[in-house]
Amino acid sequence: MDMLGLSCYVCLRFGRSDMAMNWIGFGSVYLLTGLFVGGLRSCNGGISSSYSRSNDISDDMPLSSDVFAVPPGYNAPQQVHITQGDHEGRGVIVSWVTPNEPGSSKVIYWAENTELKKHAYNTKYFYKVGTRDATRQFWFTTPPEVGPDVPYTFGLIGDLGQTFDSNRTLTHYESNPAKGQTVLFVGDLSYADKYPLHDNNRWDSWGRFVERNVAYQPWIWSAGNHEIDFLPEYGEGEPFKPYTHRYFVPYEASGSTSPLWYSIKRASAYVIVMSSYSAYGVSTPQYKWLMKELPKVNRSETPWLIVVMHCPLYSTYAHHYMEGETMRVMYEQYFVKYKVDVIFSGHVHAYERTERVSNIAYNIENGLCAPRNDEFAPVYITIGDGGNQEGLLYEMVDPKPKYSAFREPSYGHATFEIKNRTTAYYAWHCNQDGYSVEADSLWFHNLYWKSSSVVASF
Ligand SMILES: *[C@@H]1O[C@H](CO)[C@@H](O)[C@H](O)[C@H]1NC(C)=O
Ligand SMILES: *[C@@H]1O[C@H](CO)[C@@H](O)[C@H](O)[C@H]1NC(C)=O
Ligand SMILES: *[C@@H]1O[C@H](CO)[C@@H](O)[C@H](O)[C@H]1NC(C)=O
Ligand SMILES: [Fe+2]
Repeated sequence: MDMLGLSCYVCLRFGRSDMAMNWIGFGSVYLLTGLFVGGLRSCNGGISSSYSRSNDISDDMPLSSDVFAVPPGYNAPQQVHITQGDHEGRGVIVSWVTPNEPGSSKVIYWAENTELKKHAYNTKYFYKVGTRDATRQFWFTTPPEVGPDVPYTFGLIGDLGQTFDSNRTLTHYESNPAKGQTVLFVGDLSYADKYPLHDNNRWDSWGRFVERNVAYQPWIWSAGNHEIDFLPEYGEGEPFKPYTHRYFVPYEASGSTSPLWYSIKRASAYVIVMSSYSAYGVSTPQYKWLMKELPKVNRSETPWLIVVMHCPLYSTYAHHYMEGETMRVMYEQYFVKYKVDVIFSGHVHAYERTERVSNIAYNIENGLCAPRNDEFAPVYITIGDGGNQEGLLYEMVDPKPKYSAFREPSYGHATFEIKNRTTAYYAWHCNQDGYSVEADSLWFHNLYWKSSSVVASF
């Protein structure tokens, strides 16, 4: 049995002299094995977008693919990935897996061109993990100091999986001239749960596949339904186990009690990650946390308020239609009240962007139960089109409801380029024809600063 379950993680903090904190190393054995490619479904439905791909289902790349290559050397660290390690962006969590035995827990890191200077922000750091002949070196750049006009570019990727299309999406993100600095990942990572016994070798292969990006820039994780990944009939009854053991997040730094919901500040953005597959009703931990969290956001410090959750609240595709409805009924009122700028989701394997609409007027007898234009409501973006083995979804609500501004079943990724406190440029890039085409875009006007200027000018 291949046991690639030994993982290490180290949290680094910058702007201080202490080096490695919060180290945890552990071994875990995951359920295995047997190679199987199957369960592929074909989706045929009314195609109402202007473009459709002829070959929408793509197999997972074989384990022998270049992207899954195991790094050379005995016990060489693999699946190296980083994420933000604290609330403010001064810490980085570095995680990796050693295949043969528990490895060294040490990360050696140093700033570029420095002699003992104190470098906290916007600094390129090199880091090394592993021992002896199996050392591996990477680098990352610490984010700028949190502040209202700090430009910053987020990438958006969802439902990635590990097919040839997944590889195209990642390649296009990497070659996008917008140069994403941090990925907001909207859930559904490896799709290992599509294999018999949820073959965790496919979590390992996914980790090796995305390492080429996530070892160099943080990905901010959110959990999708494919992260639930339990197998009670085999005694694995704990939901989210492989995901939470492989992908650490700094949830305690935002007062959360679960890695499935948390928040971070980064540059001029405040990012709230929620869990569509954890209890969220009144008085659940997630609800209580969010009710404390939203009033804390200081828009003079972080003007851009972004929410990430796997299941969309607005989607006009037939598949998964209205799955986010209870979450919408619970939380949309707060997203409108606190002027969330944009909500990014995945789950639906296609692309969609809504108009600014809200549907919060209904009170059980007034009949006001349809979305209406609301210039202070969030934009909802579904970006579940990373390219996993389930393929694209074509069937849509027809005719297109007015609240849907743009929808197209194509693989791709997006970028959200914050320019300053008032303005951000958003663009969706689809993978078509081997080019990274900008197929949908929008200038965002920050809702908080927009309303302030409205008030100021009257
Ligand atoms: C994945 O994409 C990379 C970068 O474009 C390429 O070098 C590699 O050969 C691709 N691998 C597969 C299996 O498609
Ligand atoms: C909000 O942030 C601004 C800018 O950093 C700061 O001056 C102000 O004191 C903060 N407000 C609160 C209530 O913390
Ligand atoms: C913010 O950025 C936009 C786009 O680059 C620019 O037009 C606008 O003048 C900037 N606003 C401020 C206050 O700098
Ligand atoms: Fe999903």
